[in-house]
Amino acid sequence: MKTIKEDWNAMAQAYEEFNNSPDSYSYNIEWPAIKKMLPDLTGKKILDIGCGTGIFTFLLEEYNPSKITGLDLSESMLAIAKQKAEQRNSKATFIVGDASYTDQYVNEKFDLIFSSTTSHYIENLDKLFESMKKCMEDNGHIILSIIHPIYSSMYPIEHGDTFPKDEEWHIRYLDKSVRAYIQPWIEYNDRYEKRLSKSYHHFFSDYVNAINKAGLTICQIEEPMPPESWKNESKESYEGYMETPTFMIMKLKRCKLP
Ligand SMILES: C[S@@+](CC[C@H](N)C(=O)[O-])C[C@H]1O[C@@H](n2cnc3c(N)ncnc32)[C@H](O)[C@@H]1O
Repeated sequence: MKTIKEDWNAMAQAYEEFNNSPDSYSYNIEWPAIKKMLPDLTGKKILDIGCGTGIFTFLLEEYNPSKITGLDLSESMLAIAKQKAEQRNSKATFIVGDASYTDQYVNEKFDLIFSSTTSHYIENLDKLFESMKKCMEDNGHIILSIIHPIYSSMYPIEHGDTFPKDEEWHIRYLDKSVRAYIQPWIEYNDRYEKRLSKSYHHFFSDYVNAINKAGLTICQIEEPMPPESWKNESKESYEGYMETPTFMIMKLKRCKLP
């Protein structure tokens, strides 16, 4: 199995085509919920961790921050983000780096640290939240959109280099084994050879405990619904999402000092 970085380098264009489309879950389910949770961002500094091709970086830039930086492990994901930044005259800048050690790549503090659907690629959540906190202003916030633990518990358990069968996609919540599966942007794209991607399944308690250990607290959690219009227009997606939701979004801040 290839490393996570190699995997994302190989999938970059397919990811962009799949997720940057008007009917994507990112635009229709995730972003409407995130928007309602945002603090005032005018003149503030934003860091987007695991920014990928910049889908949320550019949406957040519309709120007039003084600075916006994206960090990602994959050079190919960032190459697409940089190309889009140039086309749209964006002031966003991008850094190659590992989210578990974010503070080693950026030596400044941010008012909002944002991250979408990246934490399940990171084995050690303690390191992720510790390093996020080091890069956060005292009054800052973190907005973390995660793959819902119900959904990540459905990812098939890794078994060497063989592809999982459809029936291996079922909930197995209390199993911490590494998961391995074909990503939807590869599965539904004829131009790509099928490949296995690896990720982790963290329990909800793993998130809460790592957040508390880092000296952070949860101020809000959202489990966004699919759009009402999907009931008629995309019935299969609507029903699937109602059964096993893909996103959980948390807003965090520092614990108050005693
Ligand atoms: C599902 S994509 C999400 C991209 C973007 N946030 C979005 O919502 O479109 C996950 C991203 O996490 C990045 N990633 C995985 N592990 C990482 C790590 N340890 N540090 C930084 N980025 C990582 C991948 O390269 C990929 O771009």
